[in-house]
Amino acid sequence: MSSAPLLIDLASHPERSAEYEALVGAHFPAGHPPSRPLPPREEFPLLLASNEASQRLALLEGDRLVATTAYRLFEFPGQLRVAALGLVVTHPDFRGRGHAAKLLAEGESRARAQGAALAALWSDLLNFYTKQGYLVGGTELQWTLDAEGYSLLRARLRAEVPATTSYRVRPLANFDEIAALGEGLGPRRESRHYDAFIALADTELFVAEDASGRAKAWAFRGKGRDLRDTLHEIRGATSAVAPLLAHFAKTGEALRVQVPAASPLREELTHWLGAPERGPLAFFKVLSTAKLLDWVARERLLGASLRLRALEGEGFEMGDDRRTIFRSTDPGHLIQLLMGPWRPDELEGLPPEIGQALSQAPLPLPLYFWGLDSV
Ligand SMILES: CC(C)(COP(=O)(O)OP(=O)(O)OC[C@H]1O[C@@H](n2cnc3c(N)ncnc32)[C@H](O)[C@@H]1OP(=O)(O)O)[C@@H](O)C(=O)NCCC(=O)NCCS
Repeated sequence: MSSAPLLIDLASHPERSAEYEALVGAHFPAGHPPSRPLPPREEFPLLLASNEASQRLALLEGDRLVATTAYRLFEFPGQLRVAALGLVVTHPDFRGRGHAAKLLAEGESRARAQGAALAALWSDLLNFYTKQGYLVGGTELQWTLDAEGYSLLRARLRAEVPATTSYRVRPLANFDEIAALGEGLGPRRESRHYDAFIALADTELFVAEDASGRAKAWAFRGKGRDLRDTLHEIRGATSAVAPLLAHFAKTGEALRVQVPAASPLREELTHWLGAPERGPLAFFKVLSTAKLLDWVARERLLGASLRLRALEGEGFEMGDDRRTIFRSTDPGHLIQLLMGPWRPDELEGLPPEIGQALSQAPLPLPLYFWGLDSV
């Protein structure tokens, strides 16, 4: 009879680090192969190198490390703590035994105990994660800059942008130079975390500077295997978006451009690039309804007349002074309400009350996430 697998973390078992990283390196989804071999510690610096070792979890069967998961806590403006989970891997010979489910549950429970209101991750494995109680939430916008995409962009630029000439776009060697541009509504990260990304193969940070050399907008191109040839994490002044795009229109390299629908630059990007494709932003699981709703109230995301509050025991309700508009014990409804859908035609299949609630609330939440499979 085999004994139950043992759950460990790498703070108590630092000697298991090499085995942990070897499992991730061998079995994490391949994505787009990078142009040079990328050791896991380099590719996933935020989860493997610079987070707490106690947030790297693993299961041992006998003496063998057979499954991994890690999480990291991100602070959003307004004291919202979100646990981003990643590196969910089970060795192929040990799948189907509940290992990944067990590690995810442990990560969520530790994160909840550390004050996280929401768990988030990014994946293509819809069925697996929905089984674990995750819900697809939020909207990501994406444009394809192929020959056709560029010809539209070039025509627009020719017609509208003499101003680009006063901008200079260049790659940067470190993030400090533009840290002053601010973090927007995304998770707070330190410059050194961005620097770890800049150091990756096929990953560059581009900045658009005005005539006096001030950084006005920035964007990453690439990040490891999952975001290769993708322009993402685009931030800054709307006026500098066109110059940034003009730089790539000159080189003509095939690119995807991605922003969460919450990005304040989405109108500007739509102007230059045309109508975007829309996809899910990430998977979410509510870890604490009360904490999440406290944040909504603290940040005044609903405006003066509406309130969203946790019900005693379970669930939440939304209403104004006179009546309850919507009440539910389904955390999925809360995710839908907070993260989107972003348009009425995306409401299909949802209870009509959610549509009504959404039409009255200035939600979805202005959250940014970036590369959550690898944070
Ligand atoms: C995805 C993965 C981690 C699952 O590991 P696992 O230990 O076999 O998963 P579990 O045994 O805990 O599965 C839990 C449940 O999900 C189901 N499940 C497992 N993998 C699934 C998949 N790929 N698609 C749909 N359901 C899946 C299981 O059948 C099980 O269902 P049950 O509760 O009804 O029995 C594993 O297949 C893997 O390592 N894949 C490669 C790496 C990867 O893609 N990781 C995710 C990166 S975001």
